[in-house]
Amino acid sequence: MKIAVVGTGYVGLVTGVCLSEIGHHVTCVDIDEQKVEKMRQGISPIFEPGLEELMKNNIDRGLLTFTTNHKEAFSDAHAAYIAVGTPQREDGQADLRFIEQVAVDIAANLTNDIVVVTKSTVPVGTNERVKRILLKNLAGDYKVDVVSNPEFLREGSAVNDTFKGDRIVIGAENPEAADLIEAVNKPFGIPVFKTDIRSAEMIKYASNAFLATKISFINEIANLCEKLEANVEDVAAGMGMDDRIGNKFLNAGIGYGGSCFPKDTSALVQIASYVQHDFNLLKSVIEVNKVQQHMLIQKAKTRFGSLEGRRVALLGLAFKPNTDDMREAASIVLAQELVKEGAEVVAYDPISIENAKKLLPAQTVYVNSPEEALLAADFAFIVTEWKEVKALTPEDFKERMKLPIIFDGRNCYNLNEMEKHNIEYYSVGRKPVNVNGIKKD
Ligand code: UDX
Repeated sequence: MKIAVVGTGYVGLVTGVCLSEIGHHVTCVDIDEQKVEKMRQGISPIFEPGLEELMKNNIDRGLLTFTTNHKEAFSDAHAAYIAVGTPQREDGQADLRFIEQVAVDIAANLTNDIVVVTKSTVPVGTNERVKRILLKNLAGDYKVDVVSNPEFLREGSAVNDTFKGDRIVIGAENPEAADLIEAVNKPFGIPVFKTDIRSAEMIKYASNAFLATKISFINEIANLCEKLEANVEDVAAGMGMDDRIGNKFLNAGIGYGGSCFPKDTSALVQIASYVQHDFNLLKSVIEVNKVQQHMLIQKAKTRFGSLEGRRVALLGLAFKPNTDDMREAASIVLAQELVKEGAEVVAYDPISIENAKKLLPAQTVYVNSPEEALLAADFAFIVTEWKEVKALTPEDFKERMKLPIIFDGRNCYNLNEMEKHNIEYYSVGRKPVNVNGIKKD
């Protein structure tokens, strides 16, 4: 089938590339001429494992093209995917300007009937609005249908998630349109769940809100475990053995970040407020997450009193490993707070430093290895569980730091190991070890 994908951000590009991989003729549209030129050469604007390889492969097979020309993309297309951003407005609402503009562009450039598929995360009711815009701007007497087909991709494993997802949600008014999108996706071999448009839109928000709730819940349990001398990893493992709870997404830490959970939880609170529903549970989830991001600072202040003049190794900056995405990363809050307290921040990340420079305080110093960040540090904050950070040995800390004092926001190291090696170690929801003074040996 011939498919157009509008927007070559993270969702659009992964969708377009993967649809070409399963044999469709895909044209990806973007307004950014320079970006389009790069993508034509097989260069991905985002870091996503496996993506460039598939891009190059399908450009060579003649199945994947890139353009800034709407007419070229939409004429003869069976389906047009909308995958442009829905950034968060100041008031927490999703900004739908880009979506609405794309709907106008699609309608104005049609040469045949088409199914318009919304991939972007949009508030309940948006697809109906898209349909109205399409009908109002139609270039001729063509039939248009809209389908809500939310994505559930995780950054860093988006290609894998596309081929091995748990479900494909298709929300449509017209069963024929739903069948067409089901046929498009058939080669993925993933179970399809068909529903009405509004329910499909809600599934996306409800899924992300639920996952965020799971994280805030286990973080609260972790905070309690610290006070009650229990171990959150064992608690999570024991809970997770109950199939109704499940053992995934129960890793306690410094809270969730990224481009989805913070934005989508705020948007759902807003959506609820429009229908006079006070979504108290979700508000608490958001609040718990904010507090959790400050957790390492609180522990360091309790340990040191003042942080003035302290040299801090900030290990990991991205909101999670295997991505260079810095959106809503806890490292931003931590670096700002540390600088405000008068500390000196030495930051390491394997791939996010360029993005971090735009968001972290100007005083931050960047280094190219975790070992370098530890040199003469008073203490270390573990922010992202990169393999390079997890690979640090007790000796690495002991040889380089003034005293080996670690505040680990990701529970990267084994408690017994830290205890045995005389490292002063504070983690999340586990007992602190060697807190009564250590000597450099
Ligand atoms: C998420 C959803 O998983 C995905 O389905 C949706 O389409 C987009 O949002 P993503 O933001 O890429 O994906 O990352 P994810 O791996 O889900 O992690 C989100 C955040 O939660 C990260 O900051 C991560 O560190 C944190 N997290 C995750 C935890 O703190 N504990 C966990 O147990 C899991």
